[in-house]
Amino acid sequence: MRVLLLGGGGREHALALGLAADPAVDQLIAAPGNPGVAAVAELRPVDPADPAAVAALAVETRADLVVIGPEAPLVAGVADAVRAKGIAAFGPSAEAARLEGSKTFAKDVMTAAGVPTARAYTCADAESTGRVLDEFGAPYVVKNDGLAAGKGVVVTDDRAAALRHAEECGRVVVEEYLAGPEVSLFVVTDGEAAVPLLPAQDFKRVGDGDTGPNTGGMGAYAPLPWAPSGLVDEVMRDVVHPTLAEMARRGTPFAGLLYVGLAITADGPRVIEFNARFGDPETQVVLALLETPLAGLLHAAATGTLAGHPPLRWRDGAAVTVVVAADGYPAAPRTGDVITGAEGPGIIHAGTRRDADGALRSAGGRVLCATATGADLPAARDAAYALVGGVELAGAHHRTDIASAAVDGRIAIPG
Ligand code: AMP
Ligand code: GLY
Repeated sequence: MRVLLLGGGGREHALALGLAADPAVDQLIAAPGNPGVAAVAELRPVDPADPAAVAALAVETRADLVVIGPEAPLVAGVADAVRAKGIAAFGPSAEAARLEGSKTFAKDVMTAAGVPTARAYTCADAESTGRVLDEFGAPYVVKNDGLAAGKGVVVTDDRAAALRHAEECGRVVVEEYLAGPEVSLFVVTDGEAAVPLLPAQDFKRVGDGDTGPNTGGMGAYAPLPWAPSGLVDEVMRDVVHPTLAEMARRGTPFAGLLYVGLAITADGPRVIEFNARFGDPETQVVLALLETPLAGLLHAAATGTLAGHPPLRWRDGAAVTVVVAADGYPAAPRTGDVITGAEGPGIIHAGTRRDADGALRSAGGRVLCATATGADLPAARDAAYALVGGVELAGAHHRTDIASAAVDGRIAIPG
């Protein structure tokens, strides 16, 4: 099978490793990729969010499967353009990707499907925003209504800051606050059949102890030792299948990766958000534990044959990833710093570039992810932090508490 992978972040490096390890894959091409992806794929300098250019590259490379990593190409209609050429694409249509692209659309689908989520209102002016903030009370949750790469949300006790964020965004969704530990559940689907991957937990705030601004994600681990048994079945029954049925009923079936972001509240799991693609950095840990060949699974979803796919197999043990971020991330990341100690296995490249002088330099806010597996969560965590210790990047910072509450048994579902 010839596979074309779109994107060039940490998620795509993890996907590339999984795809390259599948014995059915004899050629892997990535556009644009990054220096980590370059070790396992042939890179092509194509804009992944340009539907016509991607479709032409898929034809030229005679791809059997196009795997779309990030959200921007999906929302731009890249999956539609590839499928129009008769080539299988893993990723939803532009219409279906609105589950991620518009918070208002996602809430609408959830309401129609009876999916448990936070109560919310869309607000377009300061007066209505203020009214809804007061109805729900603190902590205040204000979300940009458009695509924001996971960074358009402000959760704060400061009413003035909540109003300021709303004003900067224009149109926002104001929600009630959901208390409880967060879970990211990835579901591979062909629009009808749906296969859950292992639940993972992400760390959205930049600082230890969940302090500071939201980021794209500072680390992750899987599986979740504290998750109630039956959680995945419950989410499949109450969230995933009703949502897929509602999308199909609207004539815009969702096929690809449905990312369900949940809070496990006193009243049960509640959806915080949907995304239309694999999460970053949760993908790094989930795929590190997946034994089933990845390309075959994604190809089945892309060709409507997922119901016939064998059950997934998982490695024993646990996986942890720790993001090494650039100086100034998330507000104003500095790029162009030399990185050393990032050549070994387990280093997943996110925002890196290889310059003509051969040096590896930072090229984004999240620079790389140190990813390790272990016999259990403490062992995986120790191994991931040992990898972080070997990386040198001026001004870099990382969280020191990824997976530590889970290791110490300090995660509790509110009762
Ligand atoms: P989102 O982009 O919607 O995932 O939001 C980013 C982060 O903000 C989430 O991972 C949560 O940590 C937090 N968040 C979003 N919505 C809520 C909510 N309704 N209640 C509590 N926290 C939330
Ligand atoms: N890790 C959060 C996201 O991918 O949106």
